[in-house]
Amino acid sequence: MARKTTYKIKQLKESGKKIVMLTAYDAPTASILSECGVDMILVGDSVGNALLGYESTIPVTLDDVIHHSAAVARAKPDSLIIGDMPFMSYKVSIEQALENCALMLQEGGAEAVKIEGASKRVVDIVRAVVDSGIPVMGHIGLTPQSIFQLGGYRVQGRTAELTEALVEQAKALEEAGAFSIVIELVPSETAKRITESIGIPTIGIGAGPHCDGQVLVLWDMLGLFEDFKPKFLKKYANIRTVIKEAVNEYSEEVRKGEFPDSEHSFEMSEEETGRLYGRTKPSRQRAS
Ligand code: KIV
Repeated sequence: MARKTTYKIKQLKESGKKIVMLTAYDAPTASILSECGVDMILVGDSVGNALLGYESTIPVTLDDVIHHSAAVARAKPDSLIIGDMPFMSYKVSIEQALENCALMLQEGGAEAVKIEGASKRVVDIVRAVVDSGIPVMGHIGLTPQSIFQLGGYRVQGRTAELTEALVEQAKALEEAGAFSIVIELVPSETAKRITESIGIPTIGIGAGPHCDGQVLVLWDMLGLFEDFKPKFLKKYANIRTVIKEAVNEYSEEVRKGEFPDSEHSFEMSEEETGRLYGRTKPSRQRAS
């Protein structure tokens, strides 16, 4: 399958084809997503909640995302790899953003970066990063890195005014050169209005059916977590149950002495076994 590029992603919107994006944080899942024809792999800072045991994305560092992005890149997926810029790794100054986004490509093997927010400061940063030749995906609506400012994981853009404000943010990001925008946790009508107002693809999560594409956190849609059940999440598998069943069966077989059996063990030749236990004498070399 041909490698996906930001150009091809933009073409999908133009041709009216839906865009499929999922998160991945390691090589085996990245290669599975690629084999399934997933358009974009996001190495999200959601790695903090999904794999690293944090309660939010705030503690996730640039090194964390680079480490996981490099693993994804080693799988050489056809999907476009997007490295998520974590909390405060791009907002301090334009210089900081340029240096860190460059590291995401150079060390993380990403082909684009995702940047949260659309304040004037962030839009200027997006413009500078794009100007440096690094493709940027924007992220508006609920932006988890601003969770303390937003006061929790609440639906954004619930009114006409708030929707128009989000439309302005999306337009500013498009004008700054972003190649697509994630819209998180907004009413369907809000996402529709934004999607119709800009020429670049919108990728929804908790944003209803009218976006140009969809993203979910892989481990959420595979059902790794029992207690995480937001309204927008559809679980396509129950991987937690599958893992538990396998671990329970393994534990039982180990405890009963049924595993490992001869099928899964290596054997010594009869002669060597005999030598080991002193039943046969080792053959001697005759002196000449
Ligand atoms: O980090 C992440 O996985 C994300 C998606 C939820 C869009 O930002």
